[in-house]
Parts: sequence; C-alpha cells; structure tokens
Amino acid sequence: MGDMRETPGPILCVVGARPNYMKMAPLMRAFAANPALPRAILVHTGQHYDVAMNDRLFTDLRLPAPDVNLEVGSGTHAVQTAEIMKRFEPVVDDFRPSCVVVVGDVNSTMACSLVAVKKAVKVVHVEGGLRSFDRAMPEEINRLVTDQLADLLYTTERSAADNLAREGIGSERIVFAGNVMIDSLLANRERAVPPAETLARAGVDAGLAAETFAFVTLHRPSNVDSPEALVEVLTTLRDASERLPLVCPLHPRTQGNIRKFGLESLVASPRIAILPPQGYLEALGLLAKATIVLTDSGGIQEETTALGVPCLTMRENTERPITVEQGTNTLVGRDRALTLRLLDETLATGGKRGRMPEFWDGHAAERIASHLGRWLVAQGATAKA
Ligand code: UD1
Repeated sequence: MGDMRETPGPILCVVGARPNYMKMAPLMRAFAANPALPRAILVHTGQHYDVAMNDRLFTDLRLPAPDVNLEVGSGTHAVQTAEIMKRFEPVVDDFRPSCVVVVGDVNSTMACSLVAVKKAVKVVHVEGGLRSFDRAMPEEINRLVTDQLADLLYTTERSAADNLAREGIGSERIVFAGNVMIDSLLANRERAVPPAETLARAGVDAGLAAETFAFVTLHRPSNVDSPEALVEVLTTLRDASERLPLVCPLHPRTQGNIRKFGLESLVASPRIAILPPQGYLEALGLLAKATIVLTDSGGIQEETTALGVPCLTMRENTERPITVEQGTNTLVGRDRALTLRLLDETLATGGKRGRMPEFWDGHAAERIASHLGRWLVAQGATAKA
C-alpha cells in the first residue's frame, strides 16, 4: 500500500534450533543463486547455542554465519517464545523485509511468524501442513499457529495440503515443493564421515560399529522428561543392545535427565556407546551405514526413508505419514515387544524397504526460490518504485 521504496527489502530467513539448519542451508544457497530474488539475511534466534548443537552444524552445512543473532537461549516455552518475539521485532523494523521465511516447527518458527504477520510482513513457511494430531507435542502447536499465519506454505508431501484444507487454508496459499532437508542430505552424502572415525574421535572402540549396529536418538519430552517414560525407553535400548551394538548421540536434555533420574546403570554396557550430539556429517555417516535406526526425531524419519534404512520411530504418531506409507519407517511407540520383534525381523531379512517420495530429489530449494521470486512480484513486495 503506497510503499515507494527504491529497492525491495531483503528476505529474512530465520533459524533457531538444530533441525532448522539442514532446511535453511539449501534455501540460502538457492536464494543467493536466483537473481530474481532480493538478498537473503540470516537471523539466528539463538534457541540452540551449544557448539555441538549449533556451530558444528553451521560449518558442516556451509551455512553462512548469521547476520543477526538474537541469543535468546533456553527457557520455558512461554519465556523462550516471548524473548524471541521481543528481540525479533526490532530486526523486522530495521530490515523492512519483503518477507520472512521460517522452516520446520520449533518455537523460533512460530514466534517469528507471529511478529512478522502483526507487522504486515509476508510470512513464508517451508514445511507447512505436517500434522501429528497430537496437541501434547509442542511442535504441533507451533505448526498449527505458523500455518494459520503464513501467507505462503511450501509442503514436503501431498497429504499436507489435505491437512491445511481442513483448517480452512486456501489452496492458493499452498505449493507442493518437496523436501529441502533431503536437498541437504543428497548434497552432502559424499562428505559423510565414516562411522569408525566418529567413534574413534569419541573415544569408542571403532569395532563396535564395524558390522551391524543401530543408530539411536531420543529427545522428545514425552519420552525423556518423566522417569517412567525414560526407564521404558532405556530398558528397550538395553534389550536391543543384546541383539546388536547401539550408537547413541544424545541431546543434552536426554543426557541431563538420565543423570537427574539416576538411570546411568540402565545403559552402562560396552555394547551401548553414548556420544555427545554429533555434527551433520557424522550423523549422516552413521545413519547411512546403520542396520536400523531407533529414534523419536521428526527429521530422521525422513532421512532414513531417503537413505533406505529401516527406522523404528519411538512415538505413537507421526506428522510425516509418507515415511510410513512409502518409506522405511514404522511407528513403535514405547512398545518393547514390538520394537524387539521388528529389530529381529530386520536383522533376519533386512527390514522394511521403501521408495523415495515424490520431489525428494535434491531440487526442492531451487523450486522454492523460483516460485518465491514470481510470488513476491505478484504480491507487489519487490515492485520497484
Ligand atoms: C527443539 C525443538 C524440537 C527439535 C529439537 C531438536 C521446540 C519446541 N523444540 O527442542 O522440535 O526436535 O530442538 O534438537 O522448539 N539445550 C542445551 N544446549 C542447546 C540447546 C538446548 O543444552 O544448545 C538444553 C537446555 O537444557 C534446554 C533444553 O536442551 O533447556 C531444551 O532446549 P529447547 O530449545 O527448549 O528445546 P529442544 O528440546 O532442544
């Protein structure tokens, strides 16, 4: 409305937590390579800040250093969300962006969307429309809110558009673009660090993962924040380790809770290697070579499908149903008998096979960049005065 700026405002790209980085890296590259787009500015909220959770991934993914770091750190959901909003508002004022691009479903995704939309800045959500239908999951709330606010939603699988339609989000706001996280995976596969190297660096006997091994990650509050749930999952891991060695890079919250609840002895075994959080290339190397993966992560369900590695997801639901329908994923919750049965089956037969979902082809970010260029022009956001 009457905006007569000489040059279009930049694209503000927001990251906050680890699973955002592998999604934003290919987008930043595709935006920079597309002359139709204004320049991209990277804003880091600082939700994740540990070297292992943050800096190493930036290097691995060749993400440029953030132009702005809000350094919010940890806190309750309310405190963290509020701090992000308070600190992001002046950044939007300063840059007067053409749009704000958010990815995934972390608190930073929702908080920055809310700030932008109230300032009449267009919000673009990459990975829109995923639903677990489980409102006890903080990410589900972030997804619901972000998608309602977003002006434009890029989706990774076709089921997302049905979810959005049910919530009254018009099809003109939705574009099926594919999976930018798989762009990162395919682009970096050759650079993946061999498991033996990763284990040696962590001081673990490299022979542990020489043949079969399971790669394990666990961090969802529903699995690790109560002693009861954590005992259940750790007992499953202990039983699993009798069948094959486990390599477990653990999120700081999981490591902290194991100590806090005094459960170290449950997983004290030479066949269970507990590692600190790993870099992207180390994790990719372990994922690609694993016999099977046990996880409660969202992203790893997709990465295992892309790699063709069987995945047992220790959750009751998934917001990524295509990984179960077409990929290698099976939901096992905290059902120990089921988990061990599927583990035995995988060891005997190689486990669930799948195929690569549509548009998980390494070119999602390019598709988004070229569509976004046209969309911004249509919105008048990049119109020259
Ligand atoms: C966040 C995301 C989750 C994502 C996960 C991946 C939300 C609601 N959750 O969860 O979707 O799967 O990242 O890792 O946004 N901590 C550190 N160092 C850090 C960051 C966190 O030690 O660099 C510890 C702190 O004790 C902190 C706790 O981890 O309180 C939780 O961090 P937080 O950012 O609240 O959520 P995550 O569990 O990491």
